[in-house]
Amino acid sequence: MAAARILVITNRKGGTGKTSMAVNLASEYAARGRRVLLIDLDSQSHCAVGLGVPPVRGAASAQSFLAGQNSLRDALRLQVLPGLDLVPADPLFNHNGSGDTSTALGVALQAEGLLEDYDLVLLDTPPSLDGLLLNALCAADRVLVPFVPHFLSGEGVRQLARVIFRVASRGMNDKLKVLGFVPVMLDTRIGLHREVCEGLGHQFGRNRLLPGIRNDIRVAEAFGRGKPVRQHAAHCRAAQDFAVVADAIDRMWVSV
Ligand SMILES: Nc1ncnc2c1ncn2[C@@H]1O[C@H](COP(=O)(O)OP(=O)(O)OP(=O)(O)O)[C@@H](O)[C@H]1O
Ligand SMILES: [Mg+2]
Repeated sequence: MAAARILVITNRKGGTGKTSMAVNLASEYAARGRRVLLIDLDSQSHCAVGLGVPPVRGAASAQSFLAGQNSLRDALRLQVLPGLDLVPADPLFNHNGSGDTSTALGVALQAEGLLEDYDLVLLDTPPSLDGLLLNALCAADRVLVPFVPHFLSGEGVRQLARVIFRVASRGMNDKLKVLGFVPVMLDTRIGLHREVCEGLGHQFGRNRLLPGIRNDIRVAEAFGRGKPVRQHAAHCRAAQDFAVVADAIDRMWVSV
């Protein structure tokens, strides 16, 4: 059986829809019958919130794994939705800085046999450049960058591109490639949104610009109810857009 694909969802800027993308793509692919593992590498721990997974005090988490306290498998919350397992983050985890290397996650995914158990591993990441983000970049095959098409988003994406280039070029992960950029909270009637998207397409290649996720209050509502948007409002425009982005990722995976 083929090993899982590993997709990291990241942007150095905060609030660009990373967690919404991670939770909604994870549930979209799981609903299509894929075996999906979502790993939350942001200590804000929002993936569990968005999936309605209650916190368990002191339970194994992505951070306790990186601190060497447990295996990655020990941190699994199984079948949070049919076909979807979650490694949550722990917002209360007190990290003393010991035991973390940038390769621990990639090594464990392989060594613990997790790549055989899943078709897709999705990694949600923090906006800060910390050990959790580095682990994600060192473990992943492809990078997906959600961005809000505003004035400063080009700069955030360029900063991220430099980090990715460093990881890929310093032998930390030579399989890492940028899959593409997804405009989020998109309204194509707004001139600035069109301009920012065109600018990024121009800089990184139009073929790397994925279809966008339109601005839709249902995304925030669904999150507040601990559900992916396809469960909260199956026919809303964001649910449609996440399905279109999932199709585009499948197409682009082999072509980039
Ligand atoms: N398509 C959308 N339409 C409307 N609101 C959205 C959309 N996508 C995300 N949001 C909202 O934008 C806010 C930020 O989204 P999210 O938490 O996914 O971003 P993030 O990049 O993970 O943030 P952080 O950097 O803090 O981790 C949330 O309130 C979310 O509900
Ligand atoms: Mg987030």
